[in-house]
Amino acid sequence: MEKTDYKSFTMQWHITHRCNLRCSHCYQDDYSSFESRERLEAILGQYCELLEHYDCRGQLNITGGEPLTHPDLYWLLKSARERGIRTGVLTNGTLLGTREAKRLKACGVGYVQISLDGCKKSHDKIRGEGSFEQALDGIRALKAQGIFTSVSFTAQRHNLHELKRLARLCSDLGADKLWFDRVIIPAAEDSDKLTLSAGEYKKLCNTAARLNRKRLVFCGRALQFLPCEKKVIYRCAAGDNLLVVLADGNVLPCRRLPLVLGNVSDSTLLSLHRDSPIMKELRGTGIPDGCKGCKHAENCRGGAKCLTYAKTGRYDLTDPDCPVANQR
Ligand SMILES: C[S@@+](CC[C@H](N)C(=O)[O-])C[C@H]1O[C@@H](n2cnc3c(N)ncnc32)[C@H](O)[C@@H]1O
Ligand code: SF4
Ligand code: SF4
Repeated sequence: MEKTDYKSFTMQWHITHRCNLRCSHCYQDDYSSFESRERLEAILGQYCELLEHYDCRGQLNITGGEPLTHPDLYWLLKSARERGIRTGVLTNGTLLGTREAKRLKACGVGYVQISLDGCKKSHDKIRGEGSFEQALDGIRALKAQGIFTSVSFTAQRHNLHELKRLARLCSDLGADKLWFDRVIIPAAEDSDKLTLSAGEYKKLCNTAARLNRKRLVFCGRALQFLPCEKKVIYRCAAGDNLLVVLADGNVLPCRRLPLVLGNVSDSTLLSLHRDSPIMKELRGTGIPDGCKGCKHAENCRGGAKCLTYAKTGRYDLTDPDCPVANQR
């Protein structure tokens, strides 16, 4: 049955795969795809059609690659705002100075997310020499314009011990939010063994819960609610009110779930969302057997499908990092 009760619908749009960095954990393997303004306009039109069909609000998160390398970023942000769509930008922050922050502000951007993968040494090791200080300058430039600034920390084997120090740093910088999530790399491709074990993730979530009490870390991603007092129970949105469009026009249910639904050149976002067999299957996935009897099952419904898929090759199983399921 078609779902029609969405209050909002998020599109994460990778408008280019070009990037000035080459981070060791990055899920991209193409660094060249790039959408022209003409194509951006056509795809934005498809998104508006989808929002109209579901009669819901739009949240457009523009990213890449590095979105600030795209000359039409500001034009796109402005065009989306003019159509009543809320916007955000996900960036590595290294190309963001006062001029760029002022332009983002003028386009009415709702928030900007900058990646920090630890303190200076770890961040530069993952993202390249000098990128840490540049990202910090980016955060300062955004804050000077009063733009809501969130920091994203991707936890991997080599940096997971840095969350506490990073939380202090973000607080000193005046960042509005720090959130974290697990690195997602298919098990067969993880030659550097970056993926956390279930035990490591449990420990990290416990640390985060302590920091959350001091309002230093947001614990809103899969399974992070478990040790938290103020529980924001995350439910994976893959199959529901989320679509990802890549810079070659391919459409995915989530950036971290590498299942191609089709391409915007051959189809529309609405029909891919509504009619794609993969989306229908994702929507039809019930509570995994491993979650039966769990008091959070109705809300959590198995944790993160992307991580489960990366570790097991299936998305309809219980998140292999879940401490509740692993205790049984
Ligand atoms: C693809 S980047 C695009 C925006 C910008 N270039 C940046 O680095 O923030 C968006 C986010 O995805 C994260 N990311 C990249 N590869 C990932 C992976 N394999 N697993 C989980 N997150 C990943 C990055 O760390 C970053 O926070
Ligand atoms: S900056 Fe972002 S897009 Fe570029 S390599 Fe790093 S994670 Fe990938
Ligand atoms: S057992 Fe399943 S529903 Fe319960 S917390 Fe773990 S993943 Fe979520």
